[in-house]
Amino acid sequence: MNSLPNVKLMTMRDGKPCAVQTGDLFANKSVVLFGLPGAFTPTCHYQHAPSISDDVENMLKEGVDLVAITAVNDVYVMDAWANELELSDKIVLLADGNGDFARSIGMMFLARELGLGERSRRYSMWIKDGIIQMLTVEPDFTLADVTSVHAMAQLIKTLQKSRL
Ligand code: BEZ
Repeated sequence: MNSLPNVKLMTMRDGKPCAVQTGDLFANKSVVLFGLPGAFTPTCHYQHAPSISDDVENMLKEGVDLVAITAVNDVYVMDAWANELELSDKIVLLADGNGDFARSIGMMFLARELGLGERSRRYSMWIKDGIIQMLTVEPDFTLADVTSVHAMAQLIKTLQKSRL
């Protein structure tokens, strides 16, 4: 079983920071979670987050209940980033400011040479009822190829067909 740890993350609701537990958020749902190295960093800002935003409605139509982005940034930075990019409000932004979630799932890396400290690897994850169904990690965190929203949608379709 690849069950996820129950960790506290922060999200902005109606302009107020709110704590959410991953155990509650991911329970009894099909969830697509994207781990990104950082708000406002080039690939995340110009490519990965906007493409997730463009595709979120399609994913929700295809039976995904929740699409979320997490990064090791604080909730205020995540919120400012979502506003700057005008990300769809259908995406749930999960601030992992202390890095507890990224660390607990083995997705933390050290970007000291860039002055960024501890960051989340770039990954895409499909979670069903709190259990990881699929995890794809980008070998080069400055790229968003195998972790793209299109790659994820294809993989989910393939996996669902193979389970029929
Ligand atoms: C990027 O998204 O392009 C990026 C992320 C972390 C460090 C450097 C670049």
